[in-house]
Amino acid sequence: MEYETVRTMPRIGDKAPEFKATTTQGSVLFPSDYSGKWVILFSHPSDFTPVCTSEFMLFGSMAPEFEKLNCRLVGLSVGSLYSHIAWLKNIHEKVEFKGLKNVRMNFPLIDDISMNVARMYGMIHPGESDTKAVRALFFIDPKGVIRAIVYYPMALGRNFDEMKRVLVGLQTIDRCGVALPADWRPGDEVMVANPPTYEQAQERMEHQPAGTVCSDWFFCMRPLSKEEAEKAGRRM
Ligand code: BEZ
Repeated sequence: MEYETVRTMPRIGDKAPEFKATTTQGSVLFPSDYSGKWVILFSHPSDFTPVCTSEFMLFGSMAPEFEKLNCRLVGLSVGSLYSHIAWLKNIHEKVEFKGLKNVRMNFPLIDDISMNVARMYGMIHPGESDTKAVRALFFIDPKGVIRAIVYYPMALGRNFDEMKRVLVGLQTIDRCGVALPADWRPGDEVMVANPPTYEQAQERMEHQPAGTVCSDWFFCMRPLSKEEAEKAGRRM
């Protein structure tokens, strides 16, 4: 059973598993309805719980920023459509958090009372709960390929600025053909890939391309302007 769970979890580089679902915004054929766009499929444990509510306030209010980056959000929890609708209405009408209020969720929230999608995407972690999804995010590119997966436990709310950084990072990697160092933000220097041989790396150390700075043969960086990095999202 444990082996099956691990074996069937989608991984980075896999095609996003397909499913049809009912959502708060009608039915969705996933991921084909999002073909040509980035999409973040994310789960939360339960409706009407405080941490999940705080996350929806933040993520919901950031949805237009993600949209500008050609990215759509799709939420999921093991709950019914009616529960989702009632919870989102309560959030809109009553909840205030970090100066936000009257937040409307303009993205679909999947009814996964059957747990079919949560199981398919490895969102059920029995050590946390047999019946609720953990806080998972799948970043899926315009070709329907899973590019990053993030998991948080149930009691810890996510940092959505970091999730935006992941998206912008993936788009920058694709457009600019670079790798990004720890804590990279648009405007920061990017890593230059190692040449295939040690000799070529030594040669690069001796004749560094303009703008490239190497502190050793395996550690070279070059500038990438914020504008160039940010264009990454708009172009796709
Ligand atoms: C919450 O959203 O508050 C929550 C949900 C499940 C477990 C712990 C916290």
